[in-house]
Amino acid sequence: MTFDRSVKIAPSILSADFADFGREIQAVEAEGADWIHVDVMDGHFVPNLTFGPPALRAFRPHIKTVMDVHLMIAPVDPYIDAYVEAGADILTAHIEAGPHTHRTLQAIRAAGAKAGLALNPGTPVEAAGPLLDMCDLVCIMTVNPGFGGQKFIHTQIEQVRKLRAMIGDRPIHIEIDGGVDPTTAPLVVEAGADVLVAGSAVFKGGSVGNPAPYGENMRAIRSSVS
Ligand code: DX5
Ligand code: ZN
Repeated sequence: MTFDRSVKIAPSILSADFADFGREIQAVEAEGADWIHVDVMDGHFVPNLTFGPPALRAFRPHIKTVMDVHLMIAPVDPYIDAYVEAGADILTAHIEAGPHTHRTLQAIRAAGAKAGLALNPGTPVEAAGPLLDMCDLVCIMTVNPGFGGQKFIHTQIEQVRKLRAMIGDRPIHIEIDGGVDPTTAPLVVEAGADVLVAGSAVFKGGSVGNPAPYGENMRAIRSSVS
């Protein structure tokens, strides 16, 4: 992966057909997805449950782009090796998931993945400051994590703007996760984001048998920011 700040769309397969992940991933990539976002939830850090490492291992051969794994689990450290071995290119952990985030980010890089740090809407972005040199990506949550299809939290735009200034010229992606659509995408891109996660706004209206809406939906997001 080479670093650049061009806008990337990362469909969240949380909004895909859970009986057909392989073909859903192939369909969104064929329609123009830049990365594939995989939401891992443990029913403890967030009130929902999704994928363990064997599921990611099954997704991996279908992903030709980047497997962007968002861990909404606590604790994180005991599972890092398993998720990296399952094929994560980027492994993102929440700053709220435990007291030793610096160690977690070190362990992710040591395991061979890019390290991401996610911040919930209630966490001041300044908390990421001392950790930025350990990060390849910072994810600003624009919903409370746990579910797709929630409403975008506008007060997070200011956090994105602050983070962009904190990062300066360091090669660190700013990812936005939650409620991204053609009305909210321009607000966060203008504030400095380059990776847009989108679940419902990408998958709505389409299916494996009718993937054209995936492409139309992604083009609508892309043209809203250009
Ligand atoms: C929320 C997840 C998101 C979610 C986004 O906990 O981290 O990735 O799937 O879904 P939308 O785009 O529908 O808000
Ligand atoms: Zn996510």
